[in-house]
Amino acid sequence: MSIQLKGRHLLKLADFSPQEILYLLDLADRLKAEKKAGVYHKYLANKNIALIFEKPSTRTRCAFVVACYDEGAHPEYLGKNDIQIGKKETVADTARVLGRMFDGIQFRGFKHQTVETLAEFAGVPVWNGLTDTFHPTQILADFQTVREQFGRLKGIVFAYCGDGRNNMANSLMIGAAKMGMDFRIVAPKSLFPDPKIHEMALGFAKETGASIRLTDSVAEGVKGADVIYTDVWASMGEEAILGERIALLSPYQVNRAMFDQTGNPNCTFLHCLPAFHNQDTELSQQFPNICEVTEEIFEGPMSLVFQQAENRMHTIKAVMVATLNPPAN
Ligand code: CP
Ligand code: NVA
Repeated sequence: MSIQLKGRHLLKLADFSPQEILYLLDLADRLKAEKKAGVYHKYLANKNIALIFEKPSTRTRCAFVVACYDEGAHPEYLGKNDIQIGKKETVADTARVLGRMFDGIQFRGFKHQTVETLAEFAGVPVWNGLTDTFHPTQILADFQTVREQFGRLKGIVFAYCGDGRNNMANSLMIGAAKMGMDFRIVAPKSLFPDPKIHEMALGFAKETGASIRLTDSVAEGVKGADVIYTDVWASMGEEAILGERIALLSPYQVNRAMFDQTGNPNCTFLHCLPAFHNQDTELSQQFPNICEVTEEIFEGPMSLVFQQAENRMHTIKAVMVATLNPPAN
């Protein structure tokens, strides 16, 4: 069966079949290998790409920009103070204007509904670069990294520890369900995912044979893990409740004791970044217990976080190429 994603949006992984996700990962692998070999096809020659950011970004922004230049496209960064979206102009109007000038639109922001509305009205592919609810391009980079390490996704034991109801937990849970993984959210019960998103994941798991579990027990959740994943304890927009989160999530910090509880000497560590892992940032000086992962694990041989960060670029490039001008084979 040949996969055709031209013209599609990427708003959440729930909208993609396992075969479509594998197609994007295979294309990302190919584009990564070709870039390393100095081969550039300019699949996006003469395309114009709008990058809307309501929230800050290092990786996602740079991944889109570098991927655009590698493939011959022109990116335009539109920060939260640069355009009228949602303030002086409806999202639908902005979508129709940008859609007449640009060939594709990336959106990072707060409400997931905003990216859905952009997609409904733009008339060109819209890609979700993170909302409060989902972060699908991150999961493609995470899965590319897992495949590089383990050669497969199906059956991988994947423990996500920390805030179990944020955009990362939601997206990983959906992605893992789609790809037949043994996925656990390890979090306090008060931070278990929205039941609707959990139900959605369970539905996909039924089709693929994935296992999706929620537990507040670290010992149970990380047992046999191939991958331990975490994210910051307070996401962008949640800064006011950081103190409360530190108190709630300290028992879920990723550290040596947690790795020992996996019983797997080859367990790998992943993190979407940015991460708190030492006292060398302004916020970690202000909140000394803010670290969701210890320095030992973050800097240790089990950590693939910078390979994972690089993969943001290759997977985002694959998404743009696949939806705008896919290669013939
Ligand atoms: N992981 C990620 O999305 O990083 P940025 O916030 O820097 O884009
Ligand atoms: N959950 C984090 C992810 C950052 C990439 C946030 O939304 O801030």
